[in-house]
Amino acid sequence: MLICKRLCYKVEEGCDLTGTFSFLKFVVTKYCKVRVELVKGKLALKLCCPNSSLVKEVKARMNLVECLKWARCIPFPGYPTPVKLTYFKEKGLCIGIDERGSPVCLPIRWLERHALIVGSTGSGKSTTAYTIFSELPFPKLLLDWHGEHEWSNVVDCVNLNHLEKLSDIEILDSFASSLNLSDAQYYILMKVLQLLRVQRRSFGIRDIAFYVKSLEETSRWMRESKYALLRKLEMLISRKKCSFTITDLPNSLEGGLVLNLSDYTEYGKRFVANVIISYLFAQAKNNPTKAFIFVEEAHNIIPKGNEISVADKVFMEGRKYGLHLVAITQSPKAMSPNAMKNTALKIVHALREVEDAKYVAESIGYPELWKEFISLEVGEAILSFRKPIRVFISSKKRNSSSPLAQRSTHNKEVSHTPLP
Ligand SMILES: Nc1ncnc2c1ncn2[C@@H]1O[C@H](COP(=O)(O)OP(=O)(O)OP(=O)(O)O)[C@@H](O)[C@H]1O
Ligand SMILES: [Mg+2]
Repeated sequence: MLICKRLCYKVEEGCDLTGTFSFLKFVVTKYCKVRVELVKGKLALKLCCPNSSLVKEVKARMNLVECLKWARCIPFPGYPTPVKLTYFKEKGLCIGIDERGSPVCLPIRWLERHALIVGSTGSGKSTTAYTIFSELPFPKLLLDWHGEHEWSNVVDCVNLNHLEKLSDIEILDSFASSLNLSDAQYYILMKVLQLLRVQRRSFGIRDIAFYVKSLEETSRWMRESKYALLRKLEMLISRKKCSFTITDLPNSLEGGLVLNLSDYTEYGKRFVANVIISYLFAQAKNNPTKAFIFVEEAHNIIPKGNEISVADKVFMEGRKYGLHLVAITQSPKAMSPNAMKNTALKIVHALREVEDAKYVAESIGYPELWKEFISLEVGEAILSFRKPIRVFISSKKRNSSSPLAQRSTHNKEVSHTPLP
């Protein structure tokens, strides 16, 4: 027989319930049935456990949360039937609440069809991305352009000495996607790779630069293209010693990996991101296993005008090999239209530029929504898979120094919504 008890609390303003909700979600649900309701600063728990000592234990743990004050369980004003929060396993990944306070959850199959998180600067894109990333129970990689995300496993450079693990086409595409190569530069690289394959068992970016340098200059165009290419390659050569190599990647994704790209030059960031996506795509083709790649500032690696970029290929074919992208950008119009076309799930934060708002609204098939996009607040988004829903995203703390505490009162409520 189950012992059931209802526990109610008043939630003080600014109260961080992340730990409490994790405890309820991951620990208590192992033993008891739990129903959580959080409405307008009130929190109600309905617990049904196999014995009374478990109920007492949960009660004692809840009493330790200083910003929760015990309250009598009366129906919440304005909510005659309190909303139910359902659980992660049944509903997918719950990222926030809708206007009625009901949880908004993303079934994993939505994310598998690739996602786009878009919004003007400061609208809450990275926070949303991190909320999804941290909850996702699959191998995952976050390409962190600005080094703003904290995680248990962060690396800040990748050793590119083993490029031989990639096919020539993958290497060439990674260079072409990052360095705007001319046809002549592309040709030179192709020739150099052919030589390296014959003469070296393993090679990296320095070897490629060395081989380009030693090429015979048989004509003027050859000389000019060679030096232009060398200048670009120089920008990719890192002075840092990195112990983490691309071959370490697949195993490191298990518990999630954040790759901090902030120490690289812009070209370097693009190149590393492209090489990594290429490598993981090649691995996925050989051995399909579900994995997710989150790409911050995605317009840099899926740019408009380069519709054969590495990431474009993943958008088009990744799903069948279990590789899924979550692209994050503030410049939707600077991205390849394929990114819009091939991301079934869109999470649209505030777009302050009318042109951007209209472009995104049209792309998702609801042109009239552009006005809503303009007026969204920080942390608010319109989620569109089939039909659009307004969602207040729960924020996960992503950096110890991040000013997540400095939010508007409106967003405070949102951020304390549980991820049930
Ligand atoms: N869901 C949320 N709830 C509460 N506050 C939020 C939420 N999302 C974002 N914020 C606040 O807004 C600030 C900016 O958020 P964030 O860095 O995620 O925006 P961004 O769109 O990624 O910005 P940028 O384009 O500069 O990278 C955060 O520091 C945080 O204080
Ligand atoms: Mg950001």
